[in-house]
Amino acid sequence: MRLIATVAAMRETSRGARREGKTMAFVPTMGYLHRGHLALLKEAKKRADLVVASIFVNPTQFNESEDFSSYPREPERDRKLLEENGVDILFLPATEEVYPEGFQTTIDVTGLSEGLCGSSRPGHFSAVATVVAKLFNILRPDVALFGEKDYQQLALIRRMNADLNFGISIVGVPTVREHDGLAMSSRNAGLSPEERKAAPSLYRALSRGRKLFERGERKAEAIIGEAKGVIENPIELDYLEIRDSETLAKIEEISGEAAFAIAARLGKTRLIDNIILKEK
Ligand code: PAF
Repeated sequence: MRLIATVAAMRETSRGARREGKTMAFVPTMGYLHRGHLALLKEAKKRADLVVASIFVNPTQFNESEDFSSYPREPERDRKLLEENGVDILFLPATEEVYPEGFQTTIDVTGLSEGLCGSSRPGHFSAVATVVAKLFNILRPDVALFGEKDYQQLALIRRMNADLNFGISIVGVPTVREHDGLAMSSRNAGLSPEERKAAPSLYRALSRGRKLFERGERKAEAIIGEAKGVIENPIELDYLEIRDSETLAKIEEISGEAAFAIAARLGKTRLIDNIILKEK
């Protein structure tokens, strides 16, 4: 696996690959890799000649209340995992490389950034869109893969890709779960034993709602009400909502397909999850 730390070298390498007619799949990450990331890499390998992963803990997408400096990092373990999982190139830029002095451009995917996680994390999605756009421009991949767990992020990256004509094939990869249903996340490492015990009730709540949906219920309020009853202490619910799966607009009654999404605080950790409710 080749390590690249500068934008110039990364750009030159991807230009070279294109000249040789090689296709490139890109998996952007913030490190502290788990099985969810490995699923992205596995899918990436199927879709292109070269797999490029990036590790960049993007400071601008953390809110002040969150501690960017305490975001879990394990660079040596990550490198080993990426190498073992067939990554050809690891792009590992420093903060100054991504945000040189004078940097002042941001991208706003306006509608899709509002509501859900956008309400409690002002500026977060603009920061995500901006850094992903930069990475897309540096690498110019053919395919880019993102986890479906971050549903709102995936929806707005798809939108940005279409709106700004990046022409990249954006692939969403299903959420990977622990044995008890908890969605894999780097943030799970911050849970206390008590919080870890309660955390799977987020997915249980979504699954309870899905059961009601499968029995024929279509009213969002009824499904949400049923799901809420499952959430355990000490979880503080941020939102539990049913939205259009593409536009993320609020819906009262499901027809076709909808995203059922949850976000909650467990002590200092904020977790999110979602499932798709789909008519057969
Ligand atoms: O999902 C993530 O890990 C990050 O938001 C991403 C897409 C790498 C941008 O920093």
